[in-house]
Amino acid sequence: MTMPPGGRPGDTHDGHDGAAPGAGRWPWVVGVSGASGTPYAASALRGLLAAGLPVDLVVSRAARLTLLDETGIAWRDGDGAWPGALTEWLGTTLAGAGRPDRGPIAGQVARLVRVHGADNLAAGPSSGSYPTRGMIVVPASTASIAGIALGLSKDLLQRAADVTLKEGRRLVVVPREMPFTGATLRHLLSLHDSGAVVAAASPGFYAGAADAQALVDFVAGRVLDAAGVPNTLFRRWAGELGAARTYQPGPGTVDDTPTGENGENGADADAGTGTDPRLGGPGD
Ligand SMILES: Cc1cc2nc3c(=O)[nH]c(=O)nc-3n(C[C@H](O)[C@H](O)[C@H](O)COP(=O)(O)O)c2cc1C
Repeated sequence: MTMPPGGRPGDTHDGHDGAAPGAGRWPWVVGVSGASGTPYAASALRGLLAAGLPVDLVVSRAARLTLLDETGIAWRDGDGAWPGALTEWLGTTLAGAGRPDRGPIAGQVARLVRVHGADNLAAGPSSGSYPTRGMIVVPASTASIAGIALGLSKDLLQRAADVTLKEGRRLVVVPREMPFTGATLRHLLSLHDSGAVVAAASPGFYAGAADAQALVDFVAGRVLDAAGVPNTLFRRWAGELGAARTYQPGPGTVDDTPTGENGENGADADAGTGTDPRLGGPGD
């Protein structure tokens, strides 16, 4: 695989350009493991589908419990069952109401998504010769983190993640646990050292979130950033302290605030103190 100098696996994948090796469908694999945080998965999936990107979805057996607990949806992988369940999941806000962008979701699901049973180790993502852009594990349980870090491949989710690493493709892992044990911290470091991006489910409060859904979308948007997938799930830092407090997003939308100089797009990229007089100046 070719990578830019100093790049990490997946740096050639911008989420849009290029053709699939062997041509044809070139999906992102999304693994939903059994950590709390199914809204993060829903938001990341909506972002991928809104970008027109195909998705191969794997829901672990434990994630069926979290999905049932957090959404009331009983997940089954069978052909007839999942399209309706997925459409309902993606078409519902955190507060349980229908989303403003609900209309196109059924069509996107039908056109772009394939679901593989977590027990189906013969499914495409089990093999490195099955072309994928990379994989996002969202949310990532400590069990899946351990399994991926240790190469256990106990189910399709863990096997697909292992394949993603061995093929040098982008793997983004979104842990949801607190506090962490030393073992989980070591596993996360091991994943990082293997080329994965560890993107914690850690919302930022600089983006003007007015509700919990916006905090969820912030995390999902930064996860897609880490994957190199263009998205408008959240309001980006534009170098102006306090601007988010007067920001009024439309229902289910975000603005097109341009990225910072040099293409950075997070507050951490350029969080200078600006000219806010309350912060004082040199010599104060
Ligand atoms: C309702 C519920 C919430 C859970 N939340 C978490 C969590 O936030 N983080 C975590 O690491 N495990 C959590 N677990 C435990 C995992 O589901 C469990 O470790 C499971 O073995 C993970 O399997 P998987 O990685 O194959 O999905 C939760 C379990 C349930 C039933």
